[in-house]
Amino acid sequence: MSTAEAIEGIWGEFEKALDRCGDAASVENLRAGYLGRRGVLREAFAGMSGMDPESRREMGQRLNELRSRIEGALDQRERTAAPTRPATTDLFDATLPGIGPSVGTRHPIYRTMEGICEIFERMGFDIAYGPEIETEYHNFEALNIAKNHPSRDPWDSFYIDSQHLLRSHTSPVQIRTMLKRKPPLRVIAPGKVFRPDDIDASHLPQFHQVEGLVIEDGITFSHLKSVLDMWAKAMYGREIKTRFRPSFFPFTEPSAEMEISCVVCGAKGCPACKFTGWIEILGAGMVHPKVLENCSIDPERWTGFAFGMGVERIAMMRYGVRDIRLFVENRISFLDQF
Ligand code: PHE
Repeated sequence: MSTAEAIEGIWGEFEKALDRCGDAASVENLRAGYLGRRGVLREAFAGMSGMDPESRREMGQRLNELRSRIEGALDQRERTAAPTRPATTDLFDATLPGIGPSVGTRHPIYRTMEGICEIFERMGFDIAYGPEIETEYHNFEALNIAKNHPSRDPWDSFYIDSQHLLRSHTSPVQIRTMLKRKPPLRVIAPGKVFRPDDIDASHLPQFHQVEGLVIEDGITFSHLKSVLDMWAKAMYGREIKTRFRPSFFPFTEPSAEMEISCVVCGAKGCPACKFTGWIEILGAGMVHPKVLENCSIDPERWTGFAFGMGVERIAMMRYGVRDIRLFVENRISFLDQF
């Protein structure tokens, strides 16, 4: 092999290796491999020792040229090579606090609704659900709500067509339950209801109710009072007092509204209870005989009571929230607190 061929062989190998260099660190490695103390060129220079003076001079000269070419190529490549990333172990600091995953929470309305239902479930109530799009029959007719009742007006309800509407209360679940199951019955029906109310601090067009229905042997108004009083004490504390005031609903007779002593001020009088010491919490009454008949239940044989309460209102009192709109604005800083 001639001197020139040997030189070209080294250069060819070097070029191939240079091509494979991906970043600055590998260029540096290659430099050490060729120009370092144990590098390829050092060895080539050392290999000249056995040569005759003539060849030695020629080889020395060519090797010096080769060294400059290699140096030049390495320098140029180094300028354009990608910076070397530190090994990942250098970036990892086990003592830094971690990034905790953000975990969601139950919405305060659903928490409250579940809290309400749980108390009734302990009293032997089953959960029942009904559709949010109701027939006029279930929402009004079967509940003895007269044709000329204002709640039937289009501006008091959301109609889908002439016979279907978004349910304006959970009371149609009473009807669906009585049509499907026969007494004795003890059910609770949570869910969404819809009314075209203007939005303000205490009104939303969509909110939640929990409905209750009991049809059993010999049920009287005393049962209604004691069950709801027990529920209020379980929900708000033993010191809470309840009172019942006469009211009217077409599907109950007699009807009443239950009020509880104000939980905000301890019944002393404050803006929350409008300085009366009492807050209205639900509507209730003995199931109207006509409603029982509409569901093929003999009113001479069975009696029962029903009630319905608004969940948002109860949640507002429970958590001290003054504006109902906060529940639906989807603001994490608000929802995070529950
Ligand atoms: N459905 C009534 C309302 O929405 C509440 C109610 C339910 C009253 C059951 C009596 C019995 O206002």
